Amino acid sequence: MEAQTSNTITLDSFAGKSVFITGVTGFVGKVLLEKILRSVPSVEKIYLLIRGNRRYPSAAERFRHEVATSSIFDVLKSEGEAEFERLCERKLRFVSGELTAERFGLSEAAFNELAFDVDLVINSAASVNFREPLDDALATNTLSLYTIIQLTQARKTPVVHVSTCYVNGYHEGMIAEAVAGPACTPMVKSKDGYYEVEPLIADLQARVAAVKAASEDSASHAEALVEAGLNEADRFGWNDTYTFTKWIGEQILMQHLQGQALTILRPSIVESTLHEPTPGWIEGVKVADAIIMAYARQKVTYFPGDPGAVIDIIPVDLVANSIILSAAEALGEAPQHRIYQCSSSSSNPVSIKQVIQYVVEEGKQRHSEYPNLFSGMPRRPFIMIPGWAFHAGLTMAYRLLAWKQTVFSWLGSTASTAQLSNLDTMVKLALIFSFYTRPRYRFSNEKLRALAARAGAHEQSILPVATRDMDWQHYLQRIHLPGLNRYALRPKAVKLSRGKVRMARSPVGAEL
Ligand SMILES: NC(=O)c1ccc[n+]([C@@H]2O[C@H](COP(=O)([O-])OP(=O)(O)OC[C@H]3O[C@@H](n4cnc5c(N)ncnc54)[C@H](OP(=O)(O)O)[C@@H]3O)[C@@H](O)[C@H]2O)c1
Repeated sequence: MEAQTSNTITLDSFAGKSVFITGVTGFVGKVLLEKILRSVPSVEKIYLLIRGNRRYPSAAERFRHEVATSSIFDVLKSEGEAEFERLCERKLRFVSGELTAERFGLSEAAFNELAFDVDLVINSAASVNFREPLDDALATNTLSLYTIIQLTQARKTPVVHVSTCYVNGYHEGMIAEAVAGPACTPMVKSKDGYYEVEPLIADLQARVAAVKAASEDSASHAEALVEAGLNEADRFGWNDTYTFTKWIGEQILMQHLQGQALTILRPSIVESTLHEPTPGWIEGVKVADAIIMAYARQKVTYFPGDPGAVIDIIPVDLVANSIILSAAEALGEAPQHRIYQCSSSSSNPVSIKQVIQYVVEEGKQRHSEYPNLFSGMPRRPFIMIPGWAFHAGLTMAYRLLAWKQTVFSWLGSTASTAQLSNLDTMVKLALIFSFYTRPRYRFSNEKLRALAARAGAHEQSILPVATRDMDWQHYLQRIHLPGLNRYALRPKAVKLSRGKVRMARSPVGAEL
């Protein structure tokens, strides 16, 4: 008889379960929450860890004003706003908490009560700033994971941790869904396959203390700590502090969750939704979009990069679906450590040249349909040139412009200020993003596809994760650019009538 291999991943695993999610005020977190609320009705409770801010000090208030008002929930609200409010009331529990604080800032009793009630942790929160001061990036992306681990100890709760494909750092070629190592400085690997990073964390903390002791005020601290983060990241084999600290975080989880279910899910560059809840939904300006916007506003003509290289873009709804599928697996199957890459470059590659061509074409032909994106018909081209040529050209352009400005200022004018500001935009963008525009790697998603193939027919139809059939021209021109124009550049606030969303109360008190 043939072995039964099929359809073991089902949403039934969520039945009656309590899920704890971080990062729902962010881009990925919102899409994930919406999809769970809409498509996983069997989940019983969803705890949301949200930190208060000056305007909305509690998680519930912040959710009501900053999350529930998002256009991501328009489809859910099409059943009626009251129905949406009832759904939130039934399912959501709010945890006012700071990821980086001890026990998230909760009392010991509240933290323990939470730990005993949670069946699954999905950790999407992170600092995604590429140039964060080293201490802040370490606190958010690495050290906070000790609290996540602590939360799971009482019941050996499964963890799905959202990481990034770029934890693979400077490695080149086809990158497997496996533990990544430092590309530059060798490090000790444990017998269980992860890297022993605790000595590294201690070194980095000592470095932070030394930088703080050496700098005079908090502004120079911050600047020096940004530099320290970038230098350390580069020394070990990463482009920026964000990806370096996310990599250290992966090792911490693997070390301390031995014998427990841990899924590390690594998306590549996350962009607007492909299908659901509505095509093109996006929040904020992401990596590729910052460059697209600078071109659309004619601030950038040249950019360092390799046009022939493959850029890895993944629509955010496919990321949310992958999180849900891998969570179903973690809940329903034997505890293991698993790594999945949510990516497109190995199964449906698109080159940087093609992306530029689609954007430029759209700008030329239909710029008037994008009033928030294009400032007019783009007159200048958008050209990727090798890094060395970009930097040489830039130095010359700066010299010429500085000379021109001096001449203009003698004549009482400042005519070249706009050009200087465009150069500054180009330099800033290149500094932050040029690593991502000369990719020498592709991310395999073979294991993720195998996971999807093991899902039931219903799950496969409502939780697609594959990019294999994506038509990049259609996605970029008919979905992503319209979405960027509509949602990211002019957020569509859906106002709730005052006093209507009554937030659900936590069973362990009003709020944790
Ligand atoms: N976007 C991408 O292109 C991309 C690509 C690969 C991987 N990822 C990964 O996907 C995950 C989500 O990214 P995203 O794009 O959704 O980021 P995002 O929009 O910046 O959201 C980050 C979330 O983390 C929360 N957070 C950060 N620091 C916190 C703290 N100290 N306490 C409590 N909450 C905190 C933020 O809350 P506040 O609103 O309070 O700041 C926000 O909800 C991250 O783990 C990221 O590494 C993203």
